[in-house]
Amino acid sequence: MIQTEPCILVIFGASGDLASRKLIPSMYEMHALGQLHPSTVILGVSRTPKSDDAWRDELLPWVRDHAKGFDPAKYAEFARRVHYLAGDAVKPECYPPLERRLEELAAAKGTRGNLLFFMSVAESLYEPIIEQIDAAGLVVEGKRWCSIDPETRSWQRIIVEKPFGHDAESAASLNRALGRAFEEESIYRIDHYLGKELVQSMLVLRFANSIFEPLWNWQYIDHVQITAAETVSVGQRTAFYDQTGAIRDMIQSHLFQILAFVAMEPPSLYTPENVRAEKIKVIDALAMPSADEVASHCALGQFAADGREGAYHELAGVAPGSTTETYAALKFHFDNWRWAGTPFYIRSGKKLAAKRTEVVVQFKPPAANLFRKVPGFAGEAPNRLVIEIAPKERFNLRFEVKVPGFGLRGANVDMQLDYADRFKAEPVEAYGPLIVDAMRGDQTLFKHRVEVEGAWNAVMPFLDERSAEARRGIAANYACGSWGPKSADELLARDGRCWRNEA
Ligand code: BG6
Repeated sequence: MIQTEPCILVIFGASGDLASRKLIPSMYEMHALGQLHPSTVILGVSRTPKSDDAWRDELLPWVRDHAKGFDPAKYAEFARRVHYLAGDAVKPECYPPLERRLEELAAAKGTRGNLLFFMSVAESLYEPIIEQIDAAGLVVEGKRWCSIDPETRSWQRIIVEKPFGHDAESAASLNRALGRAFEEESIYRIDHYLGKELVQSMLVLRFANSIFEPLWNWQYIDHVQITAAETVSVGQRTAFYDQTGAIRDMIQSHLFQILAFVAMEPPSLYTPENVRAEKIKVIDALAMPSADEVASHCALGQFAADGREGAYHELAGVAPGSTTETYAALKFHFDNWRWAGTPFYIRSGKKLAAKRTEVVVQFKPPAANLFRKVPGFAGEAPNRLVIEIAPKERFNLRFEVKVPGFGLRGANVDMQLDYADRFKAEPVEAYGPLIVDAMRGDQTLFKHRVEVEGAWNAVMPFLDERSAEARRGIAANYACGSWGPKSADELLARDGRCWRNEA
């Protein structure tokens, strides 16, 4: 099954962690699944000098340990696609040899001048590299690029990894820099959460069935919880993380993608333009809390010490007195007809009780409860849809039934669909299908410029000086292995609700 056009995937930052841990293993998986065009090749660019073969050998253990279904013979096949060029991509000197190498590969493999750049470098290098790509004349957008085949129309696209800016202003500046070099339809702002099976499946669940959509609004839904809990710490990335925090690292990016899919209106057709337009609209409809409301709309925290490591604020690389959050729970409302009055609670944190990414859609209780006088009916709102995105991929729908036997007694039961059991398909690394989409020119699962800037605007009150009060005293305010600070429970308790904390 071949769906992509041939191209050269140029990875800037080829020696980095993302390339070894995610990009190359995911490309191996795509190769093994027959998703790459036979002529497609990968060219890694990084400063350290090494040969093609040295890079292939270096990548082998990463592919073996991180890709599903490793097979040495398949790896040998895949490795023939992999090439390397030493160069500092922010310097103009890198580009004449890069262009020569691209022309050689295009001629040898028949990639027709199609180039897919992947920015797998530190965010501060994005703009300088984009300027160099442009200055070197590598982007010709459909016109002749390589001298080998002057008649062929080629494409040049770019995938930009998060962090996409640091705030609304820097995101707009990056968008302008990208726009000077590439057309919007050639810019692929990637978010690996959109490559997750159950995130995509949410759109199908909502819009390919008729039983959910009529209930999917403020009249029937009490509230929504979106959780990305992690057990891991910040690892080697302390300095980066201290400039970032949970809101930037997870909420503005990944969890807003889930939020958009849960809350958006149905697009008229499943096309990139229509899906992206609805995501832009729904993010734009997020209500901004006033400065006075920020503290009561969020709970922020930093993990305390455990047996293995000090508290966050004690770690090397963390600024003294840092108020960067390793945990955040935010409460949002939409100013639109579908969701008026239905809160969305979004939380994410490091060193929590379990690795768990999920959406909980809590329905309201029945409008009238005819069982209210029957003992044994708790009177709670029973209906709840839980979409488990990771580590399990499951849908759980909870409803009330009669317990068998004499008398009338109710019980909550869960109906569950487990993807692994039902479809017997092991999930692949989320980057693979997304990169293949970019090779096919399908932008459906990539973020639009306007959406990214809208998402920054929505979280800025929780990041800038308006969040000062919420950040006071956050040092070591939650225990490792817990579900976060007490203030996060209070955030929901004030609204008469509680988190679903099931490991
Ligand atoms: C990354 C964040 O984007 O996503 C990390 O920078 C986080 O801090 C990771 O650990 C989580 O991804 P996943 O797919 O494991 O949920």
